[in-house]
Amino acid sequence: SGAIEMAYYKKYREILPTLPVGKAWMIAEHLVQYQGFWLSPNLALKAVIWIQDEFKVQPTDIFLASFPKTGTTWLKALIFATINRTHCDFSTHPLLTRSPHECFPFLEAYVHESHETISGLDALPPPRLLATHFPHTLLPNSMITSGCKFIYICRDPKDVLVSTWLFSNKLRPKELPPLSLQEAFELFCQGISHFGPYWDHVLGYWKWSLENPEKILFLKYEDLKKDPSAVVKRLAEFLGVHFSLEEEGKGVAQEITRLCSFESLSNLEVNKTKTYKFKSDLVLYNNIFFRKGQTGDSKNHLTNEMIQHLDKTTQEKLAGSGLTF
Ligand code: A3P
Repeated sequence: SGAIEMAYYKKYREILPTLPVGKAWMIAEHLVQYQGFWLSPNLALKAVIWIQDEFKVQPTDIFLASFPKTGTTWLKALIFATINRTHCDFSTHPLLTRSPHECFPFLEAYVHESHETISGLDALPPPRLLATHFPHTLLPNSMITSGCKFIYICRDPKDVLVSTWLFSNKLRPKELPPLSLQEAFELFCQGISHFGPYWDHVLGYWKWSLENPEKILFLKYEDLKKDPSAVVKRLAEFLGVHFSLEEEGKGVAQEITRLCSFESLSNLEVNKTKTYKFKSDLVLYNNIFFRKGQTGDSKNHLTNEMIQHLDKTTQEKLAGSGLTF
């Protein structure tokens, strides 16, 4: 095309054929194993090499890190609404007409393949809100040591598996047979799923949060379901924008929680019928990010044997870490 190829892209093309290959869940291409994690080549491997080699972090950046299907969309909305609460009216709120993914984009969406496409990252006003699915160990040292903050969300692995399985089948090309639950279960247990192994992803951020509680806030989907307003207040304190007494009196945290609830967001026209362009080659209907929004739905899908096996795996993998599900 005449474009000057960027160094990271050359590296990507060199590395790709050398990596171990695993079965894909939702798109026709295979997953590859890079630095211990399973990534989709085009969407994730390319982006992580770009982040490792080219991304310039700012100390004011706020990152939301998550494994897919753990509550990313919900937390994007909650953080966005918390950060912008003084200049967004609840009756005309951006989240009423824009998907949480539009309000709070993925860092990996900014990867650009030539010097001729300028990254929109530089145009974002601080604090930049950026989401990522990458595990902690794949992030460049600049992101670890900079003053930027991280919020991580995780979820009971059984619900993550079921949510991922149903999501993947919606996105699978029609010419491929649907992925069976048994197959999804086996792949998930082997760690072969997008950004997997799940347990390694969670443990990386968990240990980091224990060492650096002022740098990274570690959250669970289940705690958010139990008391979302309490989590929103912790979130605000962590980000240095705590709720004032006046805001407490007006119930602003509760209002944010209501705006971002599953019922509220999933019933908005934008999230029911519109699409969002994550990248030039990735356009998705917003409604696939809203399914049931409940804890424990996996018991309606998994067999008892699957549940026992996953619970045992989780206990073994997390043993001694202080983290449980
Ligand atoms: P289920 O498939 O169990 O319903 P992610 O945003 O990381 O892709 O995660 C998607 C999961 O979060 C889906 O789980 C989805 O229904 C749920 N979800 C989306 N918005 C939510 C909200 N506002 N409150 C609670 N859960 C939500």
